[in-house]
Amino acid sequence: MAEKKELLYEGKAKRVFATGDPDLVIQDFKDDATAFNGLKKGQIADKGVVNNTISSALFTLLESKGIRTHFISRLSEREMLIKKLTILPVELVVRNVAAGSLCKRYGIKEGLVLDQPIIECYFKNDALGDPLMNDDHVVMFNLATREQLAEIKSQAVKINIILKSYFLERGLKLIDFKLEFGVHKGEVLLGDEISPDTCRFWDSVTNEKMDKDRFRLDLGSVEETYQEVLSRITGKA
Ligand code: TMP
Ligand code: ASP
Repeated sequence: MAEKKELLYEGKAKRVFATGDPDLVIQDFKDDATAFNGLKKGQIADKGVVNNTISSALFTLLESKGIRTHFISRLSEREMLIKKLTILPVELVVRNVAAGSLCKRYGIKEGLVLDQPIIECYFKNDALGDPLMNDDHVVMFNLATREQLAEIKSQAVKINIILKSYFLERGLKLIDFKLEFGVHKGEVLLGDEISPDTCRFWDSVTNEKMDKDRFRLDLGSVEETYQEVLSRITGKA
């Protein structure tokens, strides 16, 4: 069992702790929820347990399909043992269906099914509100090398194919999601989490929103929806 040592970093939804091994850290999932770059704050009961369990299942799935991730093991309800990464400060958003900021920014109707996935890069910088960037911004501002950017985009396309069919089998359309990558011993690995906080899911029959949009948009049944997504994932091997 990894020994939990000092707090290294506290984010909006997770804390990261050192372990006895300098190459490994523990991420501890909180119930805290924020939206609109921290402007809206709240709690979602047991979100930390749900997101740790879902992320652990999805990292295990992706590893089994050849995607290299930071995941080592789920240690407890809220804790995950991971490889320590130097996070690339670029967030990749993959979109299959128009929703959220895509609709707002470009005047696109929510629900438009995109012929091909759109991949967007955002600067991971809370003070600037995570602005949208193109590839040249990412490379010229040294957020990632041209080669790293090509690599993570190609990983994102593969991850989308795997996750889309996985969720559809569980009655959920994968509308869009956000990924973060980092470097561990010279290798680029998928990091962070994949959960209803970082993905949009719509029920495949009713199109009901089944993710953090219930909190962002005050749609109600927030806790119940997180539990429902968990049970659709853990209830089907
Ligand atoms: P957006 O439509 O607000 O740009 O969000 C796209 C996807 O990225 C959505 O699945 C939610 C996720 N996301 C995060 O994980 N963190 C964030 O800070 C934001 C803005 C979005
Ligand atoms: N996590 C981001 C924030 O706090 C945004 C979001 O998920 O909507 O503000």
